[in-house]
Amino acid sequence: MKIVLTIFLIIFSLVITFSQASVVDFCVADYTAPNGPAGYSCKSPAKVTVDDFVYSGLGKVGNTSNIIKAAVTPAFDAQFAGVNGLGISVARLDFEPDGVVPLHTHPGASEVIVVVQGTLCAGFVSSENKVYIKTLR
Ligand SMILES: *[C@@H]1O[C@H](CO)[C@@H](O)[C@H](O)[C@H]1NC(C)=O
Repeated sequence: MKIVLTIFLIIFSLVITFSQASVVDFCVADYTAPNGPAGYSCKSPAKVTVDDFVYSGLGKVGNTSNIIKAAVTPAFDAQFAGVNGLGISVARLDFEPDGVVPLHTHPGASEVIVVVQGTLCAGFVSSENKVYIKTLR
């Protein structure tokens, strides 16, 4: 009986250990450590505050006085500590008339565009070289 109870307690403690290890709510960027291919290291949870999950930089109009007449304001892990390691990021794009974002790639990534004001011609080329293009309003 004692052996059964001991085995039960060992299994029970393993289940608790694994279930706690598998729950990771966030990995707020630790800007004091270098950035690596997998993002920033995680800030100590004791040092995380609610401000790490709030980013207000997208409320400001980007500077479109440049050759492409467009501005990209990122809210990536480098600007927005709370998205570090989550596989998501946000950006604000501002365009002048005839502004353009040059052809570029996001290998293995997905993108959603929300047009808040005006009209935008947007699209992408698939891996099979098929073009998907649409005017968004
Ligand atoms: C916008 O960018 C241009 C070109 O770099 C610069 O001359 C101008 O001062 C910038 N304007 C603002 C408001 O930052």
